[in-house]
This record gives sequence, structure tokens and C-alpha cells, in this order.
Amino acid sequence: MTDTKFKPHRHDPSHPDLQRTGASERAERVTAVLDWGVPRLRQLPWRQTRDPWEILVSEVMLQQTQVDRVIPKWRAFLDRFPTAASCAHAPLADVLRLWQGLGYPRRARNLHNAARMIADQLNERGRFPQDLDELMALPGVGPYTARAVLVFAFEQDAAVVDTNIARIFARLTSSRLTPRQVQRLADDYLPMGRSWDWNQSLMDLGAAFCRPVPLCSQCPLRSTCRWSNAPAGSPDPATGSAGVSVRQAPFEGSDRQARGRLMKALNSAPVLRSDAARLMGRDDLTAGRLVDSLVKDGLCWSDAEFIMLPS
Ligand code: ADE
Repeated sequence: MTDTKFKPHRHDPSHPDLQRTGASERAERVTAVLDWGVPRLRQLPWRQTRDPWEILVSEVMLQQTQVDRVIPKWRAFLDRFPTAASCAHAPLADVLRLWQGLGYPRRARNLHNAARMIADQLNERGRFPQDLDELMALPGVGPYTARAVLVFAFEQDAAVVDTNIARIFARLTSSRLTPRQVQRLADDYLPMGRSWDWNQSLMDLGAAFCRPVPLCSQCPLRSTCRWSNAPAGSPDPATGSAGVSVRQAPFEGSDRQARGRLMKALNSAPVLRSDAARLMGRDDLTAGRLVDSLVKDGLCWSDAEFIMLPS
């Protein structure tokens, strides 16, 4: 099997595709994105706040879940945990209950641990972590989420690169890009002082036009996009580059599906170990393995008889 995830076929940062774009074309592209984006930014609830805790929660939820599903969950989560301290002091079980339906519950466990670290820093230093290193020291916070908090909460100048933004840059330059290259390119484009508007506009451009199956006809970057202007049938440079996933593994029949079923049942009440296989729709051996994995991940507890959410 070939590894298609990061195929640096244009690894050299001096590659002509990455150099050909001069400052004036870059400026033209930036203006096109801002002129299109700013007047029509989607009115998403986390765009109405600059509270770093609220932004962090939104970004962790958005890492692997669609915007429409996140909106009600984000509101409910912040109603219950309006501050990092309120989350830090709650049992993990309460955090997991509010996470139900979002999937990937390790994110909730990490967020709970992050809340504890943030609450400590607020106590000790009187401020929320607010540089790249401090943010990346939080569990579950990688380069993307850290920069998103810097930009969307603190309005700092940083270039946020998620899979959708990586796709835009790959197509714009018609290059397969490594994560390092795409971050460098995004850093080069960043209009200083307009970071919040710029990054939000790019996200909306990715959602509206530069989708996995693109809709180029109305895209504000169409006239300068190298891939859109390449001969018909030119291979999509975004496929498999810069960590842009080609396809998600099927959910039906997956361990994730079975674990999710058990987590959902545990939200209401402890589960008898002898009921786990039936609830998960798996055989006893598989169910036992999956329960062990959830216990190991700190997402549930188990004794000889019962499985329950952690306190
Ligand atoms: N995905 C991650 N962050 C987002 C944001 N701020 N707006 C829209 N989608 C996002």
C-alpha cells in the first residue's frame, strides 16, 4: 500500500509553483477574499464572542464535527460550563454527557484536562494561555487549534491552517503541499491586522466553493487559481496533500460506532458488563476489547459487574 497522506512531490520550497506568485498577485488574492468574505461572513455564534474559553470549546468541537451539529452542542456546553473553572471543577462524567452526539469523546476528556490547566493558570498568572507554546501545551490542542484561539479570541496575527484552508492553498498554487509548505504559504498571505477577518473568510470560502468537490464558478479566486485554470481533467492537487484526507473510514460496523453506542447508554445509567455486547451490537470478545479500550482512554470505569462513566 502506498502512503498517500503526505506525498511531498513538490517538497522544495523554491519550487517554481511556490515562487511564481509575486507580491502583487498575492495582494490581489487577499483583497478578493476579504471583499467577498467580510460582507457575507456566516453568522456563526462563536463569531460573536472573543472569549478564549468559548472559542477553544468551539474549535475543539469543530475539529471533527460539522458546523450544524456543533451549534446546539456548543450552546448547551457553555450554558453548563461558562468558564474554564466551571468545567475544571465538574466531574468528567458531566462533560462526557454534554459531549454526547459529537463523537470522538477523547476530545471531551482532553478539554476537561485543558480546563484544569487553564483554571490553574488563571489562578496563578491571572491570564488565559495566549501564545502558541502555552496553548499547544494544553491537551488536545495542536498547531491548528492553538492558532485558531490566537486569532479568533485574541485577534493576533496568525495563519490558521485546517484541512479546508490547506485545500485552498493547494489548488491556488496547483501544488501538492506538505503541511510545512502550506503553513509557510498561509503565513506569507496573512494580511497583518486583518487576521480575524482573513481566516474566517478563508473558512467560508472553503465551505462555499473550495469544497472537496469544488464549485469554482462563483469563487472569488477563480481568475487567479492555478488549478481552476488548468486544463480540464488536471488532477486535484489537494487530494492527499497537506494532510487533506481522501476519505473517512466507514462508520457503520466500526469500533467507533460500537464505542459510541456504549457511551450513549452510559449517559443514562451504568451498564451491566453482561449487557455490553448486546448494546454495542458486537460479539462478546469484541465488546470486551472495546470496553477495555474505553477504560484505558479514561472514558469509563468498570468493575467485575458494571461499566459506568468516570466521576
Ligand atoms: N471550523 C473551525 N473553526 C471555524 C470557524 N471559526 N468558522 C467556521 N468553521 C470553522
